[in-house]
Amino acid sequence: MMVVDAGGLVEHVNNRVRYANKTMKKSNRSCKKRRREVVFPRVPEVLQQLFVSCREIFKGHGAAPPASDVNKLCNILDKMKPEDVGLSKNHFFKAAGAAKGTHPRVTYTTIYQCSDFSLCIFFLPEKAVIPLHNHPAMTVFTKLLLGTMHIKSYDWVHPKHSMPSSPMRLARLKANSVYTAPCDTSVLYPTTGGNMHEFTAMTPCAVLDVLGPPYSKQDGRDCSYYKDFPYSAFSSGDGDGDGETTATVREEEGDCFGWLEEIEVPENAEIDRIQYLGPQIVQTTTTC
Ligand SMILES: [Fe+2]
Repeated sequence: MMVVDAGGLVEHVNNRVRYANKTMKKSNRSCKKRRREVVFPRVPEVLQQLFVSCREIFKGHGAAPPASDVNKLCNILDKMKPEDVGLSKNHFFKAAGAAKGTHPRVTYTTIYQCSDFSLCIFFLPEKAVIPLHNHPAMTVFTKLLLGTMHIKSYDWVHPKHSMPSSPMRLARLKANSVYTAPCDTSVLYPTTGGNMHEFTAMTPCAVLDVLGPPYSKQDGRDCSYYKDFPYSAFSSGDGDGDGETTATVREEEGDCFGWLEEIEVPENAEIDRIQYLGPQIVQTTTTC
């Protein structure tokens, strides 16, 4: 089934989302053929602000930005609306609802990327999942633009605490809640704030992610995937504390922890890239 809204901002085809061209212009020639032209809308101030601030904040940074810079980016992202990146709430939901019964595959588009940071949007059809994954040495800002999403996230317990003779490692549950747009930006850091997270779309969702720096296999920032198990699924936790104090988890706190096992890239981690046809940021003289 194909649902296309050529005059709208996004369209869904076979349960996948893509940006629609913005205008249909008639050819000057007398023939009846129509020439389709993409017209980029003027960049919204808040999107340009986001780009300029990211360029300043992430330039040459190996570590997480200071709190003042984190607040600055959160304040900008909190103001962002779907329209700022060329999405329309009405078109998005109307089209998504018409494409049921096919595999919910995640799509993403890149607004901007350089070696210091990236701005990406992920589109999740209803019931689609981005499986539990990590963000090594990265700071990640997540802004849910559209939809309702369940987010589960973990941080590793330090010192490292593993199951004996097992790849299972203990992690503390940081979030396990449902979020509905518009909501505040969430931030995760290289080792805290929910460095490993999983997204499950309860309705069609669009999520803007700011990654500083982006994933880079050659720089040691590859993405790993995990399967989580309840703390109670395994024994008392007399594990390998790496010679440090053994982490002790009281029974009543068990729900706040989980065991994570690294897994191969799961099938549902495959995502499709689409072209970004929303408002284009203006790159001024300084480049990163
Ligand atoms: Fe992520």
